[in-house]
Amino acid sequence: MSLLVVDNVTLRFGGVAALDGVATEIGRGEIRGIIGPNGSGKTTLLNAICGIHRPDAGEIRLDGEKLTGLKPSEIARRGLGRTFQTSQLFRGMTVLENMICGLHRRTTTGLLAAGLRLRSARAEEAETVERARAALDFVGMGAFADRPASALSFGQQRVVEIARTLIGEPKIVLLDEPAVGLSLNRVAEFDALLRRIRDEKGVTLVLVEHVIRLVMEISDRITVLNSGRKIAEGKPVEVRNNPEVIEAYLGKELRARRAAS
Ligand SMILES: Nc1ncnc2c1ncn2[C@@H]1O[C@H](COP(=O)(O)OP(=O)(O)OP(=O)(O)O)[C@@H](O)[C@H]1O
Ligand SMILES: [Mg+2]
Repeated sequence: MSLLVVDNVTLRFGGVAALDGVATEIGRGEIRGIIGPNGSGKTTLLNAICGIHRPDAGEIRLDGEKLTGLKPSEIARRGLGRTFQTSQLFRGMTVLENMICGLHRRTTTGLLAAGLRLRSARAEEAETVERARAALDFVGMGAFADRPASALSFGQQRVVEIARTLIGEPKIVLLDEPAVGLSLNRVAEFDALLRRIRDEKGVTLVLVEHVIRLVMEISDRITVLNSGRKIAEGKPVEVRNNPEVIEAYLGKELRARRAAS
């Protein structure tokens, strides 16, 4: 059984279909690339999967369970992690504080109940901190735990955001353009990190990415969107040689890269 099923999802903003009958199945342990021109619906697809936007039609299932209609926090609890296209770190907080911020449930209970719960709350917090440190160690950022997030390079911020998704031991993590702005040798390191997350943690990865070299190299399969529709899907070599994909996307990307070099 596929881990994630996107079943004919349509999502409109006003009159515009940002997703138009998109269907795909992602296998357990797969690394799936999602590519397409600007505005083709890649981020909207991730937002539909993680519950930020609710589809107008169609359904999304994780491990056979329907996600459509659940809140983002409920979907996260079912084993789905997510990073965003822009950095979500608070620059004034330490890396470790950023890792655990938002994970604590706010309690609205009275003082007595709070007192009674203090011991278990403390134990829970200690465990969260331990898991956050372990996640930072795993991605090679352990030494930065107590430094301010503002001290991190752009690439390091992306890595910390990925580490943060690992704290909850997700089944699947959605990454929105994590490698944008990385230098070429950082891209190679990044490729190795994503593979370790899949191989050692068993996490399925969905990667929206404009860095074509990375997505071609790392993806088991690639889904191509154009104007909210899936125009191709297959192994990297199949997608790379697909005339419609070259016309809609790769041709433009390659020309832009040639012009930049
Ligand atoms: N919250 C929103 N309200 C209205 N329209 C939106 C909203 N989010 C996205 N859109 C529109 O939906 C379409 C798909 O946008 P989306 O952000 O999913 O594209 P994308 O493939 O992620 O593009 P990029 O590569 O630039 O990140 C675009 O036409 C966009 O303008
Ligand atoms: Mg986007």
